[in-house]
Amino acid sequence: MKILAIESSCDETAAAVVEDGRTVLSNIIASQIETHKLYGGVVPEIASRKHIEVINQVIDEALTESGKSLSEMDAICVTYGPGLVGALLVGVGAAKALAYAADKPLVGVNHIEGHISANFIAHPELEPPFMCLVASGGHSHIVIVKDYGEYEVLGRTRDDAAGEAFDKVARAIGLGYPGGPKIDALAKQGDPFAVEFPKAVIDDAPYDFSFSGVKSAVLNYLNSLSMKGEEPNSADIAASFQEAVTGVLTEHTMKAAEDRGIRKIALAGGVACNSALREKMTAACEERGFEFYMPPAILCTDNAAMIGCAGYYEYQKGRRDGPDLNAVPALKLG
Ligand code: KG4
Ligand code: ZN
Repeated sequence: MKILAIESSCDETAAAVVEDGRTVLSNIIASQIETHKLYGGVVPEIASRKHIEVINQVIDEALTESGKSLSEMDAICVTYGPGLVGALLVGVGAAKALAYAADKPLVGVNHIEGHISANFIAHPELEPPFMCLVASGGHSHIVIVKDYGEYEVLGRTRDDAAGEAFDKVARAIGLGYPGGPKIDALAKQGDPFAVEFPKAVIDDAPYDFSFSGVKSAVLNYLNSLSMKGEEPNSADIAASFQEAVTGVLTEHTMKAAEDRGIRKIALAGGVACNSALREKMTAACEERGFEFYMPPAILCTDNAAMIGCAGYYEYQKGRRDGPDLNAVPALKLG
């Protein structure tokens, strides 16, 4: 079964052709990072306009590279939430037009489900049930993947997402957008134990996260240095901040897995590219004898192959959407 998948929830315009859920025939990603960099973050209105400019070309490229034509597709899958409403609408509109014109079934896909599904592409042997830590620019979830398309969310962030915290701290120490990869690189030259930033734990919600406190702690630390006329050591700050965030992500995931007796763990979302998080999760799983899965970086950040994979399983479960499919910016998982 061949699926044409489309993703436009934030600042990447992406299209892919995926066969039988897990084989990627093409995966085209047009990033808008160079544009948003000028503003220090994603500007929603600009994101929507950029998606409109390139989406047809990205879809054409995905089909060409796959060696297949639109008529050979068995379904069209598209991210319909969560994400920026204007950005989502561009992908949803394109998918609806193609599905109508080529008379193909249309399947709306949850973006977070897409991130989790990147693991199925990277690991053909992986089957549910397992536990997944999803950490991206918009979300930080601990999820039990009970079956294909069946989720139980155990924990989520109460305020900022992990990636958002990386981006905000990067801006504060003058690294620019997007902050995650820049903090990751700079942290390699710093001491992760130079400054002790707080790891927030929420009473009665041991699997939830809160990252606004650690972000404020970095800002306060920078302020206190500047009042004393001292120069901050950016590499130490990056490493110490990264230590606090990746530490809490790993610890909460391990606690959830132990409490629920789950011994198979996966990692997903843009923050899953982070080298410290990858190392910590690998070590923590090894220590406990858990199986551990993570996608390569290209499948961790936003892409359409993961949407094609999630869409395949949704299609198999019977999901079909019509011309009334709409963007749902705050779409929940499960
Ligand atoms: O999944 P994604 O591409 O988009 C969303 O769905 O949000 O995630 C983007 C986020 C950004 O906040 C970015 O800074 C973060 O992932 N990110 C990283 C790294 N690479 C990307 N964070 C930490 N370390 C990285 N190496
Ligand atoms: Zn994403």
